[in-house]
Amino acid sequence: MAFATRYVDAGGRRVRILESGSGQPLMLIHAFPLTADLWRPQLDAPPPGWRLVAPDVLGPDEASMDDYAARLEAIAGELGLDRAGLVLGGLSMGGYIIFALLKRAKLSVRGLVLADTRAEADTEEGRAGRKKMMALADAEGADGVAREMVPKLLGETTRRERPDAVSAIGGLIRANHPAAIKSAIAAMMARPDSTQILTSITVPTLVVVGEEDVLTPPPNSEALARGIRGSRLVRIPKAGHLSSFERADLFTAELTGFLHSV
Ligand code: MLT
Repeated sequence: MAFATRYVDAGGRRVRILESGSGQPLMLIHAFPLTADLWRPQLDAPPPGWRLVAPDVLGPDEASMDDYAARLEAIAGELGLDRAGLVLGGLSMGGYIIFALLKRAKLSVRGLVLADTRAEADTEEGRAGRKKMMALADAEGADGVAREMVPKLLGETTRRERPDAVSAIGGLIRANHPAAIKSAIAAMMARPDSTQILTSITVPTLVVVGEEDVLTPPPNSEALARGIRGSRLVRIPKAGHLSSFERADLFTAELTGFLHSV
């Protein structure tokens, strides 16, 4: 199925949105430092009865997870997504933004998909790494960031067997302006710990992790699943951090089954 591209004015910025399917809304929030195209495998085959909406998240003016969350609330309002409640799906940074949305409690949320993410804030070591990435973005732009990030984002199986995926993900990184990449790094660095809100999550939740994820390895997702009562944890074999993209077949099957239960 073809997906549509549209632009929405949200909170003073024109945001590109990829959209497909019809029915109940599922907003998909991509990882750093990518674009909404991360979700193309899901947009190409939307689960029957569901409307998938994937916005581009990065922008030069966002400085915190709360800013990203506010922008997504504006998009949900513009598109009328949360009239009867919506499901939120986020991968990695997408998950960090979901935690910010839950804390703000402005959207009516019916279910969650948390993929390759974690609730904890950055460690000191993590923040030092972020500073190096900012310096790299300054020195070499998105090209340098792509060179550094692609081997971490994709699992070893994908890197070995799928040169197409390696170049596609590199292309998504290079589509972002270095200023937008730097804003996202600053926002991730400053994000607060979200472990406290896990016990307050009462909506159906699917936690997914690629078995070869080195950025948010399986123990992060196991901790998430332990913290969210009634959640289900799914491990995706032969996938790294971008499990939805690397093993779209398995991921979308799990997603579809989950949406049936919401
Ligand atoms: C992401 O995939 O969104 C980022 O790698 C997350 C992070 O760096 O913490």
